[in-house]
Amino acid sequence: MSGGGRIVTVLGTGIMGSAMARNLLEAGMEVRVWNRTREKAEPLAAEGARVADSPRGAARGADILITMLADADAVERAVGEGVLETLAPGAVWLQTSTVGIEGTRRLQRIALEQGVAYVDAPVLGTREPAEAGELVVLASGPEEVRPDCEPVFEAIGKKTLWVGPVGAGTRLKLVVNGWITGLLGVLGETFALAERLGVDPSSFFEAVEGGPLDLPYARVKGKMMAEREYPTSFSVRLARKDVALILEAAGSLRLPVCEAVAYHLDRAAGAGHAEEDMAALYEGVRAVSG
Ligand SMILES: NC(=O)c1ccc[n+]([C@@H]2O[C@H](COP(=O)([O-])OP(=O)(O)OC[C@H]3O[C@@H](n4cnc5c(N)ncnc54)[C@H](OP(=O)(O)O)[C@@H]3O)[C@@H](O)[C@H]2O)c1
Repeated sequence: MSGGGRIVTVLGTGIMGSAMARNLLEAGMEVRVWNRTREKAEPLAAEGARVADSPRGAARGADILITMLADADAVERAVGEGVLETLAPGAVWLQTSTVGIEGTRRLQRIALEQGVAYVDAPVLGTREPAEAGELVVLASGPEEVRPDCEPVFEAIGKKTLWVGPVGAGTRLKLVVNGWITGLLGVLGETFALAERLGVDPSSFFEAVEGGPLDLPYARVKGKMMAEREYPTSFSVRLARKDVALILEAAGSLRLPVCEAVAYHLDRAAGAGHAEEDMAALYEGVRAVSG
């Protein structure tokens, strides 16, 4: 199945899925897309994608199925509409949404029942790296389908880590997300403390400039917090979903930092920022502080 002429279907053309579809088109692949809200998929038609009315319509005869939807329930619902049955023989499903450990088990089971090879392939990177084709793919799944996956991963990413059997990619993704979650939470609290103490955020950045504490990530999210403008790269709503996946995966291991971030994100969402960038967590911290 590897080589030219492959048909790639992308279910979900939100922030990440539409950027991935564009890069697949740019790499010369035949791309079919579906999105629940069709208008969000339509701009891709002008770039050469075929926009379908249903997941099944998009998947018919495809060699590669990519799912990039909000969560496991959305993936299960979309794929459950007869999608796997309609793929080309020997097709591979690349599940790139962040769905957690239980979600991965559930979706892998569906693939097994239909005899479709399943690759657990969550990604690192947000809107800008996705648009630039510079995601990091955390892939795990059967060795024999790797050659089929590589052209797709090369089109959407700058690096692919193959980390083991299905589930290993998701576990690594949760660990990295735990790190991001903690950074975001402490940044929001740092800025709130600065505000409370009358410290200009720019002097915080001047103080750490050029040293090991001067993280590019903090600069990007900190700028949003300082300006209180949150153009969405990754929404508060989905960040909250990811924190829930981390806490679920941790089980009896207590993670109070993640719990605190969940608290701030809930308040940010409650204050009307659910669809804004996760940096709007800052609004949650401020909402609590009064
Ligand atoms: N953005 C990031 O920085 C980033 C980075 C790494 C991983 N991820 C993960 O990638 C996935 C997509 O994220 P995103 O940022 O692209 O989100 P997004 O822009 O909000 O897009 C979400 C997609 O899921 C669809 N969807 C949501 N609920 C659905 C349902 N019940 N049934 C069918 N479709 C549904 C949406 O359709 P509509 O358009 O109709 O709402 C849209 O296509 C998530 O799992 C996220 O955690 C995101």
